[in-house]
Amino acid sequence: MKVLILPDLQAAIARAADIIVKTVQTKPDAVLGLATGGTMLPLYDELAHRHRAGKVSFASTTSFNLDEYIGLSPEHPCSYHHYMQQAFFDHVDIDPARTHLPKGDASDPQAAADDYEARISDAGGIDLQLLGIGQNGHIGFNEPTASLGSRTRIKTLTRSTREANQRYFRSFDETPQYAITTGVATILESRKCLLIATGAAKAEAVARMIEGPLAAVCPASALQLHKRATVVLDAEAAEQLA
Ligand code: F6R
Repeated sequence: MKVLILPDLQAAIARAADIIVKTVQTKPDAVLGLATGGTMLPLYDELAHRHRAGKVSFASTTSFNLDEYIGLSPEHPCSYHHYMQQAFFDHVDIDPARTHLPKGDASDPQAAADDYEARISDAGGIDLQLLGIGQNGHIGFNEPTASLGSRTRIKTLTRSTREANQRYFRSFDETPQYAITTGVATILESRKCLLIATGAAKAEAVARMIEGPLAAVCPASALQLHKRATVVLDAEAAEQLA
């Protein structure tokens, strides 16, 4: 695992954007694994900025997002479909037909999950998987104790994850209980992984991911197995590293 510690949020985002832009410049038809959440918002802003400046085109890329809430339609303002549209897709030249998210409103979510896994494979696998980390060590919605061999499937969200995500909903009860997420094994098959963590709230999870034992109780620790995983941190997120 390559760990890059940058002095502040801005520098961390710029470094992560450099890695993504370089990947797309080297392979214009790269398959990108995308993530949502607060950490990614400044990154998508930066990528959109670089696109507008003519430094990068996403026109030939394909994307697969990590996860989507079950029970929310793509139009729901709290869905990850909506997030991606607002945060990134509307601001760059990516072909909407080549953007993919799990179908959270499918009548058979497990069939939708199986189909999603097959689509990733049909696309040739993911070249660069972007990841955030939950305060409980989750990646995607692979919550603590998720199988390290897991594939795309339905996951029950832990109370702590629902509490962390409640800020986007009107109440805790309205915060979805289930999601479709790509699995830990799906993530590990990506040719490169890029995990970004910023802010002191992530420091403990970051230390467990990098310096703790490889264990399902901290799904992000599975990145210790990956041959080409890069972790980009700001100083606050790195503050509990030895
Ligand atoms: C989102 C996702 C999650 C987030 C994580 C961190 O697609 O897969 O694992 O990356 O929950 O979220 P933020 O950045 O909001 O702290």
